[in-house]
Amino acid sequence: MIVSPSLLSADFLTLSSEIEMLNNSKADWIHLDIMDGMFVPNITFGFPVISQIKKAAKKPLDVHLMIEKPERYVKAFRKAGADILTVHYEAVVHLHRCVQEIKNEGMKAGVSLNPHTPVHVLEHILPDLNVVLLMSVNPGFGGQSFIPESMNKIRILRQLANEKNPGLIIEVDGGVSPDNVKKLADAGMNAAVAGSAVFKADDPSGVISELKHVN
Ligand code: DX5
Ligand code: ZN
Repeated sequence: MIVSPSLLSADFLTLSSEIEMLNNSKADWIHLDIMDGMFVPNITFGFPVISQIKKAAKKPLDVHLMIEKPERYVKAFRKAGADILTVHYEAVVHLHRCVQEIKNEGMKAGVSLNPHTPVHVLEHILPDLNVVLLMSVNPGFGGQSFIPESMNKIRILRQLANEKNPGLIIEVDGGVSPDNVKKLADAGMNAAVAGSAVFKADDPSGVISELKHVN
């Protein structure tokens, strides 16, 4: 299991110690949620913050763009330090081109789906993707409840990936915690994003280990 804690629920006043904790934990990636106040009803942070995080982080930056027309910023996110760059299917018209650009910049390419978007829309682009990020809450905020139907989406996507791209990373984002990680892993998830479950816990590093050792 790849574990990608989401900094959205971290303490931004003490970001360097939060990153230090992640560096010393079993986390594989660090998940950064970028929101533009248009694609989602919230605004987070941008390039100056990402560049600073990059200096401190010893793990790859898993950047989740919840912005309209993300193709405008592929190079800029690479420059700021993104290693995995995920765009929303719903936010891009020419998704195939955008995915190629992400890969040409030397990043892993991810595409994310909102809860209402069926997985079959990715059928013909699946062989080109490194990651599919299934949103299991409506994007925009941390701390929401897991939408149960997401479980079926994971299963269906895993089946499709078995045919089209067996190496695909299926990442799940929203309401993921040690309580449901086993079920999610059984359904086909192999990368877990967790924000509040990690950063609101008394022992964040312990929660990361629990997520990591699910199998
Ligand atoms: C929400 C973000 C998530 C968020 C998850 O739009 O994409 O990454 O941080 O938070 P939790 O794990 O608290 O649901
Ligand atoms: Zn996210």
